[in-house]
Amino acid sequence: MLFSGFLVGLFLGLASGEDGSAAWLRYAPLPHASSYNFLPSSIITLNSTKGSPVYTAQQELHRGFRGIFGKTLSNGSSRSRSESIIVGTAHVYQKSYGEFDEAEEIEEDGYFLSTEGPQVLILGQNERGALYGAFDYLSRLAQGKLDAVSYVSNPHASIRWTNEWDNLDGSIERGYAGPSIFFENGFVTDNATRVAKYARLLASIRINGIIVNNVNTNEMLLSPQNIDGLGRLADAMRPYGVQLGISLNFASPQLLGGLGTFDPLDPTVDAWWANITNQIYARVPDMAGYLVKANSEGQPGPLTYNRTLADGANLFARAVKPHGGIIMFRAFVYDHHLNESNWKADRANAAVEFFQDLDGKFDDNVVVQIKYGPIDFQVREPASPLFSSLRNTSTAIELQVTQEYLGQQSHLVCIAPMWKEILEFDLKADNRSSKVKDIVSGERFRRPLGGFAGVVNVGTNATWLGSHLAMSNLYAYGLLAWDPALGAEEILQDWIRLTFGHDQKVIETITDMSMKSWPAYENYTGNLGIQTLMDVLYSHFGPNPASMDNNGWGMWTRADKFSIGMDRTVKNGTGNAGQYSPEVAKVFENVETTPDNLLLWFHHVNYMHSLKSGKTVIQHFYDSHYEGAATAQTLLRQWESLKGKIDSERYEHVLFRQKFQAGHALVWRDSINQFYYNLSEIKDEAGRVGNHPYRIEAEKMTLDSYKSYGVNPFHAASGAQAIVTASNSTIGTATTKVTFESGTYDVAVNYYDLIGGKAQYELHMNNRTIGSAHSFGKSRRVLRRSDALNDGSACLCMWAVSSHRTAEWRLAHDSTGV
Ligand SMILES: *[C@@H]1O[C@H](CO)[C@@H](O)[C@H](O)[C@H]1NC(C)=O
Ligand SMILES: *[C@@H]1O[C@H](CO)[C@@H](O)[C@H](O)[C@H]1NC(C)=O
Ligand SMILES: *[C@@H]1O[C@H](CO)[C@@H](O)[C@H](O)[C@H]1NC(C)=O
Ligand SMILES: *[C@@H]1O[C@H](CO)[C@@H](O)[C@H](O)[C@H]1NC(C)=O
Ligand SMILES: *[C@@H]1O[C@H](CO)[C@@H](O)[C@H](O)[C@H]1NC(C)=O
Ligand SMILES: *[C@@H]1O[C@H](CO)[C@@H](O)[C@H](O)[C@H]1NC(C)=O
Ligand SMILES: *[C@@H]1O[C@H](CO)[C@@H](O)[C@H](O)[C@H]1NC(C)=O
Ligand SMILES: *[C@@H]1O[C@H](CO)[C@@H](O)[C@H](O)[C@H]1NC(C)=O
Ligand SMILES: *[C@@H]1O[C@H](CO)[C@@H](O)[C@H](O)[C@H]1NC(C)=O
Ligand SMILES: *[C@@H]1O[C@H](CO)[C@@H](O)[C@H](O)[C@H]1NC(C)=O
Ligand SMILES: *[C@@H]1O[C@H](CO)[C@@H](O)[C@H](O)[C@H]1NC(C)=O
Ligand SMILES: *[C@@H]1O[C@H](CO)[C@@H](O)[C@H](O)[C@H]1NC(C)=O
Repeated sequence: MLFSGFLVGLFLGLASGEDGSAAWLRYAPLPHASSYNFLPSSIITLNSTKGSPVYTAQQELHRGFRGIFGKTLSNGSSRSRSESIIVGTAHVYQKSYGEFDEAEEIEEDGYFLSTEGPQVLILGQNERGALYGAFDYLSRLAQGKLDAVSYVSNPHASIRWTNEWDNLDGSIERGYAGPSIFFENGFVTDNATRVAKYARLLASIRINGIIVNNVNTNEMLLSPQNIDGLGRLADAMRPYGVQLGISLNFASPQLLGGLGTFDPLDPTVDAWWANITNQIYARVPDMAGYLVKANSEGQPGPLTYNRTLADGANLFARAVKPHGGIIMFRAFVYDHHLNESNWKADRANAAVEFFQDLDGKFDDNVVVQIKYGPIDFQVREPASPLFSSLRNTSTAIELQVTQEYLGQQSHLVCIAPMWKEILEFDLKADNRSSKVKDIVSGERFRRPLGGFAGVVNVGTNATWLGSHLAMSNLYAYGLLAWDPALGAEEILQDWIRLTFGHDQKVIETITDMSMKSWPAYENYTGNLGIQTLMDVLYSHFGPNPASMDNNGWGMWTRADKFSIGMDRTVKNGTGNAGQYSPEVAKVFENVETTPDNLLLWFHHVNYMHSLKSGKTVIQHFYDSHYEGAATAQTLLRQWESLKGKIDSERYEHVLFRQKFQAGHALVWRDSINQFYYNLSEIKDEAGRVGNHPYRIEAEKMTLDSYKSYGVNPFHAASGAQAIVTASNSTIGTATTKVTFESGTYDVAVNYYDLIGGKAQYELHMNNRTIGSAHSFGKSRRVLRRSDALNDGSACLCMWAVSSHRTAEWRLAHDSTGV
């Protein structure tokens, strides 16, 4: 029975698709599993209290062995020690079985895993650590890593949290995977099933806290009904060792409590926060703490009352202190009404300016949460100088798993290599090695607290993040928070094996795609440190370099006809380079020593300025936009080469995304290049920019039920025009005649759907269907003489089969030249 159950499971696994909900915890059958005969046969659990993480570990081990080996483990007793897995805390183990050598080495949340002896030992410093050990063991098994090992694994930092920007109404700010799993219609959800699943996923990557609501916070979170709801969420998360935390609205005492003030030094305000905090802890005794965004982007805060940000943070610190809670206080405080005509104005200076004089003034349970770079999750930023400015304050690094500026899960961007660069960045405080990772762990400045906050924004979509491949970012976030010394590629390959199996071609292909995805995205969006040249005012998605300047947000490029970049030098600019320690400042102050990839972050230079590569700035722009967009085409072809090696559901889902990325990368490339060509009037040496001999503009075709549409920004469509159907329910056609020599051509339709890839089209040649697609399509076609009409032309016709879309036509000789 057992054997056939295994086979049926295997069969179903291949036949039916996978929706991604299992993420990397699939426990898929291991090839040749029956040949492994040295596996344990029972589990001895050192705490059988239902709901304890050790109990969860036992259940997880049962589940894993059934999935991976088709094997049912028995529940052993302490008498049947051999061939068993013993899981529990080191403390309980020592009481039952005596001392073991490694006990002293295990730190909080850490664990000892040994598969060397007659039993498998999984012993945590605490219950959570035991669960982490069980997940680690199962991950090894699922990857076929069956060699005997024995090691202690300890966390690099104590705070390893996610932030979720979920609103009470169920929407998620910068979330790309459907509505909230935590809230709906103004209240905490009644159904915490998916919250428990998320906690399980996070526990498996050793995340120990979730801030469940948006940093832009609604005070109604603190209503009695919602406090009770938070209790439900915490109850769902507790078996996984994941603690709940919340974001607060600084003005709550006034907005909700009816006080006349929210002044942090007013005793009634202090009492109000103590009271509400006690109420929350009564329902959530193990609440992790609060996250506070104050005096930032219009949010209320202590500055309203001329109090310091430290006064604001310490207000909450006092309230949670008796309960052992922590305050994460965001350093993302800046003036968003800066005046660009002031050459010295610089948003990048804000964090250090606001916080450096407060160093040492924060209570011990406050952690200042600092975005990795000085601005805002851009495709390339130097590490924030605030990390080395605060010596007597605990700090944490804020990373973004949700791809707000990085293609919003519609583009493959594997972020771990970027995080690694930041974490390994040496700020050289006091002339000593001061890597960001060692500062945020608390080690470098001997701080009691420190760690990681990752903005994830999962939604109800089965894939969690809206894209299967984006899940490598969540996985890598957890593992890097645990151990930043791990390599990005090493983490990635573990994730691929767990997510897609053991096929070598699959592993190599997805590794290659992922590892070049960030450099490619940087190439076709914004390179040389100019930031992601997106629409800064609204979507943060498509290209819009003009939107970056002439507003108060301070993400300026200062591009004019001759020159570009932010002068952040001390000698002539905003002085930002001087916020770094002298050794680092020296490098960034000098245009010669600044690395090319941060040149325009720190310097304002002529478009003809020569890079270290010998290219001019403008030619590098043109070339890298072509190279990056070409890489995006390669990603699509690489994914297509995996057809049949991945279940069809996930294959098709990713295929859709890769097609979109391939198309959108071309929009980015042409848009950015056209913009700077218009501005500088400097020609592309390779003659590509603004020169598209094979392109047919959709708006020049014969249109039926389509109409021309002026695109904003103008450069996002060649000729500044696209076509849209007359209404959402209209089916339109666009027709044109083409003449051509016999040969092989790629007919590429750059078909860009305003509403996120829901519309479809068909492409016909002389009434023969030669292609159809969602969102963006390109199909290689042999155009034969017989396709031609008497006059040597052929009729290409595009039909809208579902509507509301814009389109451009591009006909090209090769796939990258379109
Ligand atoms: C067992 O688990 C419960 C719940 O987590 C915990 O309160 C208790 O202390 C644990 N017992 C031991 C002996 O670790
Ligand atoms: C082992 O114990 C767990 C919970 O205590 C239970 O769910 C499971 O069914 C048991 N397994 C066997 C094989 O008895
Ligand atoms: C709770 O949500 C899960 C999916 O996350 C669903 O399967 C289940 O039916 C829901 N339960 C109730 C009572 O609605
Ligand atoms: C705390 O708040 C509750 C509910 O708002 C209120 O009933 C109670 O009197 C308050 N306690 C104190 C000491 O302010
Ligand atoms: C604000 O506080 C600063 C420093 O404490 C003080 O110098 C200044 O006068 C205060 N301003 C007002 C308007 O109270
Ligand atoms: C920015 O500063 C310039 C020069 O001081 C001034 O003319 C302009 O009005 C200012 N713009 C805004 C929006 O304040
Ligand atoms: C940090 O704290 C220590 C001890 O409290 C003190 O001696 C030192 O001056 C402080 N340094 C800063 C930069 O505040
Ligand atoms: C999940 O997201 C994908 C891509 O956006 C979409 O195709 C799918 O319909 C979504 N599924 C659910 C259940 O929301
Ligand atoms: C120095 O700054 C001014 C603006 O104040 C700018 O116009 C000029 O180009 C800068 N000079 C150099 C050498 O960067
Ligand atoms: C990015 O552009 C640079 C410069 O054109 C090129 O050398 C590099 O290969 C490109 N990388 C990718 C992944 O597109
Ligand atoms: C067309 O559909 C889009 C997306 O569903 C919607 O936002 C828009 O309002 C619709 N337009 C009309 C005219 O119905
Ligand atoms: C396409 O088919 C329609 C009738 O089905 C015919 O009227 C039309 O001439 C055909 N067009 C071409 C280019 O063959």
